Amino acid sequence: MRDVAAAAASTGPRVLPRNDPRQYDDLAGEWWRPDGAFAMLHWLAAARAALVPPSTRPDALLVDLGCGAGLLAPHLVGKGYRHVGVDVTRSALVQAAEHGVCVVQGDATAVPLPDGCADVVSAGELLEHVPAWPRVVAEACRLLRPGGLLVLDTLNDTALARLVAVRIAERLPTVPRGIHDPRLFVDARALVAECARHGVDLRLRGIRPQAGGLVAWLLRRARAARTGATSTGRAPRIVPTRSTAVLYQGRGVRSG
Ligand SMILES: C[S@@+](CC[C@H](N)C(=O)[O-])C[C@H]1O[C@@H](n2cnc3c(N)ncnc32)[C@H](O)[C@@H]1O
Repeated sequence: MRDVAAAAASTGPRVLPRNDPRQYDDLAGEWWRPDGAFAMLHWLAAARAALVPPSTRPDALLVDLGCGAGLLAPHLVGKGYRHVGVDVTRSALVQAAEHGVCVVQGDATAVPLPDGCADVVSAGELLEHVPAWPRVVAEACRLLRPGGLLVLDTLNDTALARLVAVRIAERLPTVPRGIHDPRLFVDARALVAECARHGVDLRLRGIRPQAGGLVAWLLRRARAARTGATSTGRAPRIVPTRSTAVLYQGRGVRSG
């Protein structure tokens, strides 16, 4: 048998359609590398967790839809939640479990958890990957108890988002090529209206990586790649920005 690995190496990594979930299997080794292909997800997880207050009840539950490898977990430490993660990608869930997440393999459009079970539902960088995002919103709101909190972040369905998040970002090491299908980006107004239909008054704010921190990170990473050293130093912070036209966060409480 001629060496299959050598044959695969000669043809390079497989090319998958945009937003094909098998990309997460191919990139499984990247999740927890702070300077890897999913680096920006670490920065966004920190910013999302900052929207979640410490729990006020014993046994409070946070359901993390599309949890990936559990990058939210370190930022929830000490806040008092049981962290349940739901995702379709098994290779990511294995890593989430290693980081203390109680994992459920499943689709965020049909979550096998009871109504009103969650004090917090998080949907970080998920909606723009799901063809039927209103179904994810319906599920998120169904899972929330009255008074429960929804937190999310996603990409807006605008020409600017397509330019910045696909054409530009995919040339930088902050976003893997082909990970997004811009046809799935989420119109901010439609999202607010959909949440309202399900009893959640979602408030939005635009976010972006802090520019100086991002440039310093890119330079450090390029230098490390040249020298073969490990890139160290502070990760860029995610900061609020006036416009929701590219990347935005949402936070809302379920009525009732
Ligand atoms: C960009 S990653 C975000 C992961 C995580 N929320 C984070 O911010 O680190 C998108 C994740 O959504 C998952 N995903 C995509 N479609 C899904 C669906 N319909 N149901 C559940 N998970 C889904 C993928 O497997 C992947 O782990």
